[in-house]
Amino acid sequence: MKHQALFEIIENRPLTGEDFLMKLRPQEVGATDAGTMRNQTLQGNHVEQHQISNNTDLLEELLPGQFVQVLIPHSSDTFLRRPISICDVDLQYRLLYLYIKKVGKGTAELRKCQRGEKLDILLPLGNGFKYEQSRRPLLLGGGVGIAPMVYLSKKIAENGIRPTVLLAGKTAENLTVRSLFDTEKCDLQLCTDDGSLGEKGMITQHSLMQKPTDYDTVFCCGPTPMMKAVARMMEATGIPCHVSLENHMACGVGACLCCVTPTKAHGNQCVCTEGPVFDSKELAW
Ligand SMILES: Cc1cc2nc3c(=O)[nH]c(=O)nc-3n(C[C@H](O)[C@H](O)[C@H](O)COP(=O)(O)OP(=O)(O)OC[C@H]3O[C@@H](n4cnc5c(N)ncnc54)[C@H](O)[C@@H]3O)c2cc1C
Ligand code: FES
Repeated sequence: MKHQALFEIIENRPLTGEDFLMKLRPQEVGATDAGTMRNQTLQGNHVEQHQISNNTDLLEELLPGQFVQVLIPHSSDTFLRRPISICDVDLQYRLLYLYIKKVGKGTAELRKCQRGEKLDILLPLGNGFKYEQSRRPLLLGGGVGIAPMVYLSKKIAENGIRPTVLLAGKTAENLTVRSLFDTEKCDLQLCTDDGSLGEKGMITQHSLMQKPTDYDTVFCCGPTPMMKAVARMMEATGIPCHVSLENHMACGVGACLCCVTPTKAHGNQCVCTEGPVFDSKELAW
């Protein structure tokens, strides 16, 4: 079940000049709040039904690799919700974390939001990572593709497995988000283009990637060229590789078809509903 819920901003913290971390808490929907929320009317005749939620336990439904659609506040020309990965969930303190990079109007508005403001969010969306069977997982995150790896790493650790996590950024500053990973529960490795933190070079050049057979499954999210390069390496060695695509989206619920990606067996598939996570071997990219 998808929920449309108001989340209060508990903190909106800059990490670098462009990246920021939002901590959000789901709100009970009172009469005033409910009046300000809109049911989403989608393209053509398709109207998506979703529950306007006052269920503060909805965080328990969220899976690693799923995403949310955020309605941009204070802005009349960014009426389409923006898709953002679930970065982390803290059930004890009822917090949802989003790690966001400012790239355009919508994310710039989100960057300006203040503590106490409320965001209208549609969630949970997409399929999420299938991680339960993996005993030796390798998690790869580049840029904002690091976001879903935080919650994935945490959920794998809850199953008693210590995943290896390799993060890639242009510089050390771009890897400030690494502080979200619990290094007692994962083996955290880093690389940067300029060598300012971790090994120097691209993720595919990292020493871990020279022995992919140490792992039974790779989970990857980052820029498309990075994911394609990783997928090619893993396909050559027969290691299953799950990639999380970040195609441009509009509705986020399978109605507008603007997010499709070609697949080998099933033609074009909507990334927002069939993905965003795909087995790389299924993709025709
Ligand atoms: C499933 C999914 C999960 C995502 N998770 C995150 C996340 O956790 N954190 C985060 O910061 N971003 C994430 N993104 C990307 C984010 O949705 C876009 O950066 C955002 O919608 C841009 O909105 P904007 O109004 O700021 O930029 P716009 O003004 O719409 O565009 C500004 C620039 O960004 C480019 N752009 C817009 N959307 C995307 C996209 N999906 N991929 C690449 N370039 C884009 C445009 O081509 C343009 O050059 C995710 C996208 C998807 C589909
Ligand atoms: S974003 Fe509309 S169908 Fe996927």
